[in-house]
Amino acid sequence: MRTQYCGEVTKDNLDQEVTLCGWVNRRRDHGGVIFIDLRDRTGLVQVVFDPDRAEIFNLAEQIRNEYVLQVTAKVRLRPEGTVNSELTTGEIEVLATELNVLNESDTPPFQIDDDDVNEESRLRYRYVDLRRPVMQERIQMRVKVVKALRNYLDNNGFLDIETPMLTKATPEGARDYLVPSRTHPGAFFALPQSPQIFKQLLMMSGMDRYYQIVRCFRDEDLRADRQPEFTQLDIETSFLGEEDIIVMMEGMMRDMFKATLNVDLPNPFPRMPYAEAMHRYGSDKPDLRIPLELVDITDLMTDVEFKVFSGPANDEKGRVAVLRLPNGSELSRKEIDDYTKFVANYGARGLAYIKCNDVTQGREGLQSPILKFLPDDVVAKIIERTQVSNGDLLFFGADKTNVVNDALGALRVKLGIDRGLLEGEWKPLWVVDFPMFEYDEKESRWNALHHPFTAPNYDSAQQLIDNPGESLSKAYDMVLNGTELGGGSVRIHKQDMQKAVFEVLNISEEEAESKFGFLLKALKFGCPPHAGIAFGIDRLIMLMTGSDSIRDVMAFPKTQTAQCPLTDAPAEVSERQLKELNIRLRAKAQD
Ligand code: AMO
Ligand code: AMP
Repeated sequence: MRTQYCGEVTKDNLDQEVTLCGWVNRRRDHGGVIFIDLRDRTGLVQVVFDPDRAEIFNLAEQIRNEYVLQVTAKVRLRPEGTVNSELTTGEIEVLATELNVLNESDTPPFQIDDDDVNEESRLRYRYVDLRRPVMQERIQMRVKVVKALRNYLDNNGFLDIETPMLTKATPEGARDYLVPSRTHPGAFFALPQSPQIFKQLLMMSGMDRYYQIVRCFRDEDLRADRQPEFTQLDIETSFLGEEDIIVMMEGMMRDMFKATLNVDLPNPFPRMPYAEAMHRYGSDKPDLRIPLELVDITDLMTDVEFKVFSGPANDEKGRVAVLRLPNGSELSRKEIDDYTKFVANYGARGLAYIKCNDVTQGREGLQSPILKFLPDDVVAKIIERTQVSNGDLLFFGADKTNVVNDALGALRVKLGIDRGLLEGEWKPLWVVDFPMFEYDEKESRWNALHHPFTAPNYDSAQQLIDNPGESLSKAYDMVLNGTELGGGSVRIHKQDMQKAVFEVLNISEEEAESKFGFLLKALKFGCPPHAGIAFGIDRLIMLMTGSDSIRDVMAFPKTQTAQCPLTDAPAEVSERQLKELNIRLRAKAQD
């Protein structure tokens, strides 16, 4: 139906006759001449209707936004002074000789070039929303990225293998989406939270290198970077250790960034132990574009009068830390109050501060409600340790270590953005040496920090059982600009170690058997050492396209409440379907 795309008509086509198809972006009537911007996925071209051709001119007058047209036209230069340098087609226009209205359109729910449409409306009319050039670009970037990733993996001998969607619960720590079985009344499939167990089984099958671009399902609280169904680049390899896989995966990211954005990522990526990331940045996914760091002053606070600080300083699980904000003295009372409210969201009970107007004057040059509680030598040591310059401000956090880390870690990012401190465009990082387990005080039990198939850095199972709290794992996360892009680990490939991990996690033999019995059995039939990782494709594209949310890089995402306004899913189903599935809703069960 056409000779080329709208966005591809250029000066090279001068005087040629072209046939184009697309949507009416806008119609303008100019003193007897009609201009239509015709749009397809490649861009816009200006079509001119001249009153000399009365038949199509009259038809063009009826045309409204979003009508679908086929236009045959002759390419000509735009008159002097009307060149539009923002369009690839901006030097030319096409003079229509034939017009075919392929379809009409109701008035669209919003203007395609309006950037300020509410999201509910965008999702309800997603097919219209996706016509917006910015959405077309994001989706096309997604295609390019996935293609580059596939190329790399293909070149490195990876096999693309599918795994089941109707399966059994997988241990990624979220709630499952369940699917009732009609043929087995009362039994349910779970949609996979990840293909974790299957990819390990594929290693046991000798597939050696597996990858899959795969949908995962997790019923968890949603955020800007979390959706109930999302896409992973899922990877598993045999006979590769932690070092090998880290090198291979950052090679993949470097190649892909070069191929898609022409960006050179660092070689190698920096690596940081988890403990150091928490200590310096209060986060296991630090944004290294922000040049602020937490400075620990716990040891300086043990003997001060100020209970707010001495309490946590003398608590084994407490921490007192400082965040220095260059030129922060200029913050107003109101701004400091707002930051205090901000950290309260992370559990902080306050946000003490010192404005360091002139550090050469000692105490005199400082300004703070807490100064009176701190002796001179302590103040001097804080100033020295934080390397304050005149005009800086110090923010203090004192509480349980995790509260201080969460609060100051989040404040660090907020200050970095609010105060325009970001340095550099792309700052990837590997976080390594995660603890194997994390103690849940409320439930008095150990939880796996990654998943329970992650190998500890101990060789002996007994060592692990004796020191669960000390044990580090062979897990690694790839972080980019403060977002966790991917995570993986070396897996346990020996049955005794797998049993030891279940023992620490307080998973009984019966429970282990009923949940993962098939995996435990497979470990007995010649399981190779193996390791893998999974990347969040949606998060990757979000970062690469500068979007605020992964919803903006998925064609058909769900809302924050896990609902689809376009299809109105989830929806009620008929009585008959429920009956077939042997499901009785509680309200029905009562009568
Ligand atoms: P993990 O649970 O860390 O690891 O997930 C890997 C990556 O998937 C992305 N991700 C999400 N993206 C959008 N919405 C979500 N709800 C969501 N949850 C996770 C993140 C994350 O880094 N099986 C292991 C991997 C392995 O060990 O090989 C796993 O799934 O970018
Ligand atoms: P107060 O004596 O409670 O008025 O607190 C004095 C200052 O310490 C105020 O600026 C509070 O915001 C701050 N503050 C209180 N609790 C904490 C805390 N746990 N961590 C950091 N600062 C705090």
